[in-house]
Amino acid sequence: MRITETGDLWWKNAVIYSLDVETYNDGNGDGIGDFAGLAGRIDYLAELGVTCLWLMPFFPSPDLDDGYDITDFYNVDPRLGSLGDFVEVTRTAHDRGMRVIIDLVINHTSDQHPWFKQSRKSTDNPYRDWYVWRSDTPPDTSDKVVFPDQEDSIWEKDDKTGEWYLHNFYKHQPDLNIANPKVRDEIFKIIGFWAQLGVDGFRIDAVPFIFSTEGNTPEEIEAFGDPHDFLRDIRAMVGRRTGDGIILGEVNIPYTDQYTFFGEEHGDGLTMQFDFIGMQAAYLSLARQDPAPLVKALGQRPQLSHGTQWANFLRNHDELTLDKLTDKERQEVFDAFGPEPEMQVYGRGLKRRLPSMMGGDPRRIRMAYSLLFSLPGTPSLFYGEEIGMGEVLSEEGRMAVRTPMQWTPEPSAGFSTAGVRKLVAPLPSDGYSPEHVNVADQRSDPDSQYAFVRDLIFRYRQHPELGWGQHEVIEQPHTAVLALRCRHEENSVITLHNFSPDGVTVAFSLDEEPGTVLVDVFTGEECRLDDEGRIEVVLDGYGYRWYRVHGPDDRRLY
Ligand code: GLC
Ligand code: CA
Repeated sequence: MRITETGDLWWKNAVIYSLDVETYNDGNGDGIGDFAGLAGRIDYLAELGVTCLWLMPFFPSPDLDDGYDITDFYNVDPRLGSLGDFVEVTRTAHDRGMRVIIDLVINHTSDQHPWFKQSRKSTDNPYRDWYVWRSDTPPDTSDKVVFPDQEDSIWEKDDKTGEWYLHNFYKHQPDLNIANPKVRDEIFKIIGFWAQLGVDGFRIDAVPFIFSTEGNTPEEIEAFGDPHDFLRDIRAMVGRRTGDGIILGEVNIPYTDQYTFFGEEHGDGLTMQFDFIGMQAAYLSLARQDPAPLVKALGQRPQLSHGTQWANFLRNHDELTLDKLTDKERQEVFDAFGPEPEMQVYGRGLKRRLPSMMGGDPRRIRMAYSLLFSLPGTPSLFYGEEIGMGEVLSEEGRMAVRTPMQWTPEPSAGFSTAGVRKLVAPLPSDGYSPEHVNVADQRSDPDSQYAFVRDLIFRYRQHPELGWGQHEVIEQPHTAVLALRCRHEENSVITLHNFSPDGVTVAFSLDEEPGTVLVDVFTGEECRLDDEGRIEVVLDGYGYRWYRVHGPDDRRLY
């Protein structure tokens, strides 16, 4: 096995937390979150137990795709602060033991980027082939667009030269031409720049689109070679410049293709990938009150090499995509968690956050997060999940979940000293409003969602086998129950989740030596296997349990 890492494999059991600086905390009272505001919240994140912060795009941008449309890769949007403010945040995070990764958006730029302004000027402009152009009329590509409510083709005719440019996303986001060595050199400079400013890696946006050869000439494809080699070069460069930095990819494609982006058995491609397939299967399982789809997905995950890892999530900043389910399965999830048209988007996803989808039932919400943290891999949270924030459905598309972080019960949620009307995005006014859901109240309440998530993070960190180990499904008779065992070296954890509202008694056997004890990770309570290695556990409706398996002679942690 080739292992490219030069350093610590900290990311194997990290706790990732993503946030948009713009909506997190406003330090100067103009209603827009900023780096100065974020710097003041690093201690909050450290207290929660976050080990890796993922900052969504904060670069200069016309902001037509919430910052994923960049006009300058080497700067900070002036509304959010300066490079100096960015370094303050990174430095403070490091001081508190947290890593920082940032979005690397290299599939496209904004059409306002100086490179594209040059590129569209003439067919012989030096920047022309920084983007992907074609002179012949493109075929119908309406089935390839990512945002079907806004676009009907991935090619846009540009009046100046009468040719078409490629844009896999919005037409204001022209795709960069990765087959051009000059573009690749520039990408390495961008990586080097932010590495020098202290980042610990990158979340790479839209990975499969970056490496597609759509619109490239056969000569370009020939000269470029296997696109995955470029990914390996990026991984190697991040490793060299940061020591133990990572590249975490957004790759929503079937597992077999994901395996290719991991670098197959060498594991020298992406360090981590979000498990979109597992996430969608988890929602189908929650909807059906039957973990079978999730078990099937876990069973289909390719075997990863030492140098790679899955990132598990239940929510991110985009629509909750259900695009990899069948139409019938997707409809089941829609019926259960988002039956109204205004809750759905792009015909494939949901605009809601998890608590409202679970009908606000704290038992079910907690079971879902316990499940997330117990899945083999590294958990990733979207800001506000730790306090059970809701959404603003009247906001367009994906903006519904990108509302300001709710710090206090005040009308502006303690997010800003500006009045509500000046805030960068609206706050919920329903049962999820700041008055009902906020950090200040929950931090002093031992029964709050915040206290629960903080404890969950602590337990996950105490049991590294969850991040490092191999899982197996434990046989037991209830279709609504998922029983998993995760082992790494001599440690192992058993997790039980009840997907139904009805309580059950779960009986199962373990092939362990007599005297083996299961210790409840949350309560410290002990259960002893009987002489046949059998055990019975009572689970409430939507109940969950985690047990550490202790041999008769093991030393206990606590
Ligand atoms: C990714 C991002 C999404 C963005 C798109 C285009 O899918 O997660 O928010 O709109 O890329 O950059
Ligand atoms: Ca501000």
